[in-house]
Amino acid sequence: MSSTPVGSRLPESESSSARPVPRLSLRENLVGLKDMRRDQLAFLVRSVETHGDIFHMRLGGLPTVMINHPDHLQHVLVDHHQNYDKDNFLYRATRTVLREGLIANKGGESWRTHRKLMQPSFHRSSVAGFTTNISDLTAELLRAWEPDADAGTPVEVTADVADLALKIVLRALFGVDAAERGRQFERDFLEVNAIAGKFFRFPFPPLSWYSPSRNRLRALIRNMDAFIAYLISARMEHRSDKPDLFTLLLNSLDEETGTGLTHEQLTSEILAMIIAGYETSSNSISWIFYQLAAHPDIQRRVQEEVDGVLDGRVPTFDDLPNLSYTRRVIDETLRLFTPAWQTMRHAVDEDVIDGYRIPKGTDVYLNLFTFHRHPEFWPDPTRFDPERFTPEEVAKRPRGVYQPFGSGPRYCLGKQFALTELHIITVMLAQAFHVTRPPGQPPVGFAPLITLHPKGGIRLRLQRR
Ligand code: HEM
Repeated sequence: MSSTPVGSRLPESESSSARPVPRLSLRENLVGLKDMRRDQLAFLVRSVETHGDIFHMRLGGLPTVMINHPDHLQHVLVDHHQNYDKDNFLYRATRTVLREGLIANKGGESWRTHRKLMQPSFHRSSVAGFTTNISDLTAELLRAWEPDADAGTPVEVTADVADLALKIVLRALFGVDAAERGRQFERDFLEVNAIAGKFFRFPFPPLSWYSPSRNRLRALIRNMDAFIAYLISARMEHRSDKPDLFTLLLNSLDEETGTGLTHEQLTSEILAMIIAGYETSSNSISWIFYQLAAHPDIQRRVQEEVDGVLDGRVPTFDDLPNLSYTRRVIDETLRLFTPAWQTMRHAVDEDVIDGYRIPKGTDVYLNLFTFHRHPEFWPDPTRFDPERFTPEEVAKRPRGVYQPFGSGPRYCLGKQFALTELHIITVMLAQAFHVTRPPGQPPVGFAPLITLHPKGGIRLRLQRR
């Protein structure tokens, strides 16, 4: 691996001795363009099997270097992160919706200031304080499912947990409740995600053009902005001194001095945080429930653990370390069904990764779908096996082979929040119900939007315990 100091130009000798990144042939790229539109995941899996851990390809027609080795991710996301910002094709498309909100922010000073501003809301102590919100809202959903469970009617898990995850973010971080409007916001964002995911697979015509789908996208963004405006005004009406993320952001709103956030920045920060906070979590919860239903023996072990540790009481933040088998099920689900499954960086300056030349301006693509199935680090990679996450097994693996929350300075700000949320919800589900797949239901596939969704949503039957 190159050991060039971060942020400096490469020594002439290192740059000139580097090899070019292997390229897909013209034919492979043309076939790939079609395959990518048909089945993006299959195309990526095949490309990695054929070309290895680093190669140059046209992704949706645009030149990209794909990396798939832990050392490469460590280089780009951690060791040389200053040379890799988010001024790239994937995030330019995402910024159409999220603008300069934290997740899609290009990087540099504005990202640093905003991340620092929001960081305290995600400290361990703040997250511990969210636990009651999470368990209260989860209990509400579990109660609402009881009539369906008694009637033997399958529940729409994906749609219902999306509502739950949105309510949790709104209440925990922003101190607001917005039931009906929230549902419309979810529908709007799902459509946005589908349009953006399709655009990523075939980026023509540009998003700024006028076409039925581009016009629809603009209308959906207007709806989502109106939802954020509603949240801001609702919260302004019931001003509280609760030191939550909303208060933090509002207090930094200082248009006169220009030192805080402008109104537009406030809107995009809130929008980005809500989307980052509910979308990935709700897909993860859907997949966790689905895995429990698909693996009755694993579900039984989870039930035994939660019964043994909690004896029917509501879990608290301090209980979570004692519910370690359940946590392994969550970790394994996040390995195989990583919701924030693809990301991209842009090389600000030329670089060398593992002896390969990366010209200035290169878009570097990485996806955690193929990465978390790397056969060198995960034997029988597609098998669902929570035992991979016992402390002994984790210690055997090299650092950085598992990173559902990313790594380096731009790793997920909500990691602790998300893990706490997934843990509490899974534990409470296991206490309340036994889940099964409805008879005759075919296996649920993937919908690779900008985030990874269960195709068509997950429906499950519940039996009261
Ligand atoms: C299972 C749930 C989640 C997963 C798998 C996940 C995953 C990720 C990943 C992989 C990134 C890094 C993307 C990159 O490097 O390009 C990220 C960034 C981020 N996530 Fe999450 N996330 C989850 C839940 C959450 C939650 C609950 C919140 C907030 C409440 C959140 C807020 C953020 C933010 C703000 C960023 C951008 C950080 C920055 O650029 O400084 N995420 N997430």
